[in-house]
Amino acid sequence: MDKKFKRTLVTSALPYANGPVHIGHLAGVYVPADIYVRWLRLKGEDVLFIGGSDEHGVPITLLAKKEGVNPQDIVDRYHGIIKKSFEEFGISFDIYSRTTSKTHHQVASDFFKTLYDKGEFIEQESDQLYDETAKQFLADRYVTGTCPHCGNKGAYGDQCEKCGKDLSALELIDPVSTISNSKPVLRKTKHWYLPLDRHQQWLEKWILNDHKEWKSNVYGQCKSWFDMGLKPRAVSRDLDWGISLPLPDTEGKVLYVWFDAPIGYISNTKELLPNDWEKWWKDSDTRLIHFIGKDNIVFHCIVFPAMLKAEGSFILPDNVPANEFLNLEGNKISTSRNWAVWLNEYLVDFPGKQDTLRYVLTANAPETKDNDFTWKDFQTRHNSELVAIYGNFVNRSVVLTNKYYNGVVPERGELTDYDKQILAEFSDTRKEMDNYLDNFRFRDALKEVMNLARIGNKYLAETEPWKLAKTDPERVKTIMNISIQICANLSIAFEPFLPFSTDKLRKQLNIGKFNWNEIGSIDLIKAGHQIGEAALLFEKIEDDAIQAQLDRLERIKKENELKNWKPNDIKETIAFDDFSKLDLRVGTVLDCQKVPKADKLLQFKIDDGMGGRTIVSGIAKWYKPEDLIGKQVCFIANLAPRMLKGIESQGMILSTVNSDGSLCIVTPQKQTRPGCTIE
Ligand code: 2FM
Ligand code: ZN
Repeated sequence: MDKKFKRTLVTSALPYANGPVHIGHLAGVYVPADIYVRWLRLKGEDVLFIGGSDEHGVPITLLAKKEGVNPQDIVDRYHGIIKKSFEEFGISFDIYSRTTSKTHHQVASDFFKTLYDKGEFIEQESDQLYDETAKQFLADRYVTGTCPHCGNKGAYGDQCEKCGKDLSALELIDPVSTISNSKPVLRKTKHWYLPLDRHQQWLEKWILNDHKEWKSNVYGQCKSWFDMGLKPRAVSRDLDWGISLPLPDTEGKVLYVWFDAPIGYISNTKELLPNDWEKWWKDSDTRLIHFIGKDNIVFHCIVFPAMLKAEGSFILPDNVPANEFLNLEGNKISTSRNWAVWLNEYLVDFPGKQDTLRYVLTANAPETKDNDFTWKDFQTRHNSELVAIYGNFVNRSVVLTNKYYNGVVPERGELTDYDKQILAEFSDTRKEMDNYLDNFRFRDALKEVMNLARIGNKYLAETEPWKLAKTDPERVKTIMNISIQICANLSIAFEPFLPFSTDKLRKQLNIGKFNWNEIGSIDLIKAGHQIGEAALLFEKIEDDAIQAQLDRLERIKKENELKNWKPNDIKETIAFDDFSKLDLRVGTVLDCQKVPKADKLLQFKIDDGMGGRTIVSGIAKWYKPEDLIGKQVCFIANLAPRMLKGIESQGMILSTVNSDGSLCIVTPQKQTRPGCTIE
């Protein structure tokens, strides 16, 4: 790939404006894209970073309906929240716009028209579900019905959430419109399709032969699409929210959201540079990079390139570094289940700690496989890496320079072999970082940077200038000069990753920004330079702050369990005779003990009115044995005895199973004589 490009255009997926953004978004797309862009800028390269909100599509109309507002109200609200979150986390877009903008509607509409005029689409009529009451065609998500695979009655027209199978609305048994609750009918409708099958040959060569350097998860997913064979994809929809089709007699039809969204990258560039945007999109000296999550691979590697090629005047992406997904405490992040760390809420709980999250999400980024975010790991990385290594080193360097020299950087004397060995590690590291960043390996690059901080920390710990202050003041000057140079190096190397703390560091050193290629220099700060006051770069995160987050997640888990709970299906009907075979009785607990080596079991001695019996029950988690003595219980008296942990259990105590899975012993409402039957 070693073509020399003149400029780099970086895009990051446009998030749907139907909810705030969470750590999964940041880890998967925006932090890596931002690191990449900041790195290029530090190297002095010509780079543009384009972002924006994706404001069309059915989920937005569904949410609007649910809230009784217009789709525009929804996207206005979330576009604002998302944009603010990105600003707060230092995602340094050159523009963050939106697909409801005038420019975008015009650009996307023109793009469609160009392809239409060139004969790049095929037109096809098909049957679709139509709601006669609401007088509209039904998008997949507007239809529910019975899943043909598992019988789930609440399956959606695109997917069954019970068995996970992808569906089409036409497959649903007994479909119902969610708009009017009526039974939809079939009606013919015309749509425009991008015939991807016609593009397969060049796409396959372009990716599988010419872009073998793409990340293996991306390459592999593309290959499997090619193996299945590309098929035409509809680029229009019957919907009243979106960009109207620019063709006569197409009222009620809009561009499919996945057709207009990637064009948003182009429109936003045009909005930013109305007179100069074309060189970023049409000049083969521009290198185009799309940062996305894995669910967007097909659209960015296959569909959008096919659209660009069909248009004819655009360049194609040089790379599409997609990440896998981030999970939260072992479970998939989910907006509908509120299983997420929302960026706007994070900053309320951890004000000023943007860099901590950027650090943890990069150190643990889902670059090659899905990864897990845990609050414990967050705390450990912050306290034992950012505070104990980077922060500690910088703080000691600045404090000692202020203490010994009133903040004036001392001259350095001759370097020892040890000094030289330490400094050599710095110059080697830049090459390695460049190599990692060039290949979108942000975790490895960050490891290298942290390693530099570790080297600095070790240098001070091993040279112990505080012990030499009286005996060898010349040596102390050299050590402090080198330490300050290392701090200045860190202010460059950490900048793409931790922009907020490098800002603080530069203030303490009283310096501006250096060029990336100056990493490794020991002459970044001249002797005689006055540095500023010391201030902690990072403060320790205490256990109670982490516990509060874990408690919140626990609460959400419980709420979800309650929300999703449904009574079990009723068992098969039985005859009265079958029921009367059961001998149910009341008894009084005479004694109750834990069963040794069995966490779940309690052993009961029951007064059953017939001389007593022993019953073992798996209820230990919910009761203290001593609290049950003297209480009345109901039990099955004629159940065949069973051995449990070496004890013969002569029956079964009845309990209810609550919605959270907890058990509760059934007891008669009034005192009843032991041995009485239950009928
Ligand atoms: O998956 C998503 O969140 C989409 N809104 C991404 C769109 S990326 C681009 F095409 F705009
Ligand atoms: Zn199903």
